[in-house]
Amino acid sequence: MLTQTQKNRVEELLSQMTLDEKIGQMNQESPSIVGGFDVPFPELIEMLNDGRITQEEFGKIMSTAERDFHEDDIRAGLVGSMMGDDPVKANELQKIAVEESRLGIPLIMGFDVIHGLRTVYPIAIAEAGSFDENLFERTARVAAKESRAHGINWNFAPMLDVARDSRWGRVSEGPGEDPYLASVFAGAKIRGLQGDRSSVENYVAACMKHYIAYSACESGRDYNTTSMSVSQLYNVYLPPFRAAVEAGALTAMASFNDLNGVPCTVNRWTLRDILKGSLQMPGFVVSDANGIRECVTHGIAEDDADAGVQAANAGLDMDMGTHIFRDHLRKAVEDGKVSMDVIDDAVRRILSVKMWLGLFDHPYVPEETIRSNAVIPDEHRAVALEAAKKSIVLLKNEGQVLPLDRSRKISLIGNLADMSEEVIGAWAMSWKREDCVTIRSGLENAGANVTYYPCGGPEGEIDFAQVEKACREGDVVVAVVGELVSMSGEASSKADTRIPGKQREMLQAVLESGKPLVTVLMNGRPLALKWEKENLPVLVEAWHLGIEMGNAVAAVLMGDENPGGRLASTMPAMTGQCPIYYNHPNTGRPGSKSKFTSKYLDAPLGPAFPFGYGLSYTTFAYSGLTVEELEDGYQIGVTVKNTGDRTGTETVQLYMQDVTASLVRPVRELRGFRKVTLEAGEEQRVVFLLQKKNLGFWNNQGTYVTEDGLYVFYVGANSEDCLCERVMVKF
Ligand code: GLC
Repeated sequence: MLTQTQKNRVEELLSQMTLDEKIGQMNQESPSIVGGFDVPFPELIEMLNDGRITQEEFGKIMSTAERDFHEDDIRAGLVGSMMGDDPVKANELQKIAVEESRLGIPLIMGFDVIHGLRTVYPIAIAEAGSFDENLFERTARVAAKESRAHGINWNFAPMLDVARDSRWGRVSEGPGEDPYLASVFAGAKIRGLQGDRSSVENYVAACMKHYIAYSACESGRDYNTTSMSVSQLYNVYLPPFRAAVEAGALTAMASFNDLNGVPCTVNRWTLRDILKGSLQMPGFVVSDANGIRECVTHGIAEDDADAGVQAANAGLDMDMGTHIFRDHLRKAVEDGKVSMDVIDDAVRRILSVKMWLGLFDHPYVPEETIRSNAVIPDEHRAVALEAAKKSIVLLKNEGQVLPLDRSRKISLIGNLADMSEEVIGAWAMSWKREDCVTIRSGLENAGANVTYYPCGGPEGEIDFAQVEKACREGDVVVAVVGELVSMSGEASSKADTRIPGKQREMLQAVLESGKPLVTVLMNGRPLALKWEKENLPVLVEAWHLGIEMGNAVAAVLMGDENPGGRLASTMPAMTGQCPIYYNHPNTGRPGSKSKFTSKYLDAPLGPAFPFGYGLSYTTFAYSGLTVEELEDGYQIGVTVKNTGDRTGTETVQLYMQDVTASLVRPVRELRGFRKVTLEAGEEQRVVFLLQKKNLGFWNNQGTYVTEDGLYVFYVGANSEDCLCERVMVKF
């Protein structure tokens, strides 16, 4: 991570630091709200929570309130990190730290840049569906460059929570339900964020989160308890973090949840034994917001001081937002509850990341770089458009209604089609309205003959007169329905994951009119789509695609882009099926028509649409699956043919099954994918090399094992439709 010279500089600095200055490095501040209203900030939050003030009133108060940037604490060397996205303010604060504090240690400036900063690209669950590793890296590289230009040198990203329960709102922020795809996503994101060391303006420190198993919250309810076996943790939730560390990830964020009874903020097993021990992550761990204080609420710590002691000793290095380290660690050291070695290890890790970032030699954002923030570079916007196009999933296209002919008059309905703020997704913090292209604007930009009718959206009533007018006046109706951005993301779990409000009634009205209907979904979570699958002839999953959403959706609807996205998460038929995912164990009674099998009386056996699923404007056929044993693995080949009438891109997927093992294993596990673009009539031999070592799994002793026996290799267009070959494997 560091050169020897850099290591020496870190040690030299550490040797000069007082205990207070060391603890200062372990303290992260964010601009706190003071003044501007007549109640303390915590009271204001309570007023919001209990409805004494509305969200709008809260926002207005917040916009007028002054902010305390803790300049005096920075000057005294008591702050190691700040949050923010304003480069001018960042330079001001950095100048205090570097030129006015005793040792001049620069701040590390952190911010949530999950799917882009100014150039907002698709939310992760959508981008993961592009199955495009190179794209994952390129979007992250754009985010890193824009971050540095805004004074941010530490991104609280990538979010790597493998999620199987779409009731959980944060499923939108992560790379879907599969550990292998999530691991490919993780490695690419780390390389994109940290990889271009040619200039300090091109890379940031990544912060893989939320470590760990936060997405396994019981009932899909955010912040809820999690419990699982060692093998489940190692086989499902740990792989993307392992891949991120292998790619060089320098920091991690401990998650809110308790895991098997121990909150991840104070979990020595996951922090010291696994992350810093087995995985050897060289950087530091930051708590999630307020995470240390919440350990008192969890019931694992007597009080703030106790929580701080437990966190530091468990391997938590930086305190986000509670001041508990700042206020209690000195006494903890004096009382012998926390050793100086623990403090020094934490501070060494923090200083090392700052050194790696070049902050000691280049602490400020150059003025000309700040000026360059005025506009989005064309190449950034181009990446956002490419990512948006590749993330769109065609779920149904009965009667080949799509692509639309430009001669046809389009009636566009659904408020989401015309709301800039709804294209950006749940974690866009620095977007500008003028940058965003709505679906309405995108269709207009594409020269479509489109008229927009404001009929209603995810909330409120539907104007059926407008719907009737739209049906009467257009040749085809394009309905954009789904979720507001606020309906997914953090603290947005839902017990009913159907399309919200009365949007289905709007769709039903169009169906009854007999007019051709194209339905475009804008949503953060996989929705329960039983009715839509059964009743809608054409269905396009467009997620929240970022600033270029409108142009991307228009390109697909008008046929300029042949959709190639696939589902990175299973789409349930009904909410009650959650958690539902493709890589499930077989059970002793796999669901079937027989009564006494694993299924529901009131729901279909399977999902609405499975992991890996997606259609194209052309068709593909698979044939000639072969498996050839090599020295240390298998060469698995298949022929894919474009059997349609236009060029298209297919994502060929390789799955495995360990049929009989010392632990029950999933019926399928993704082990590879390849995107192939084929012209009409063209066919190509696609070959995967699967090493034997990748056929194994982690057992409940935390040991990776490979076991002789029968395996099945599957190759196909998604996790259900595959050719397969049985192979006896001997290690
Ligand atoms: C939030 C989120 C985390 C984010 C942090 C800082 O509560 O859980 O993902 O990075 O706070 O904003």
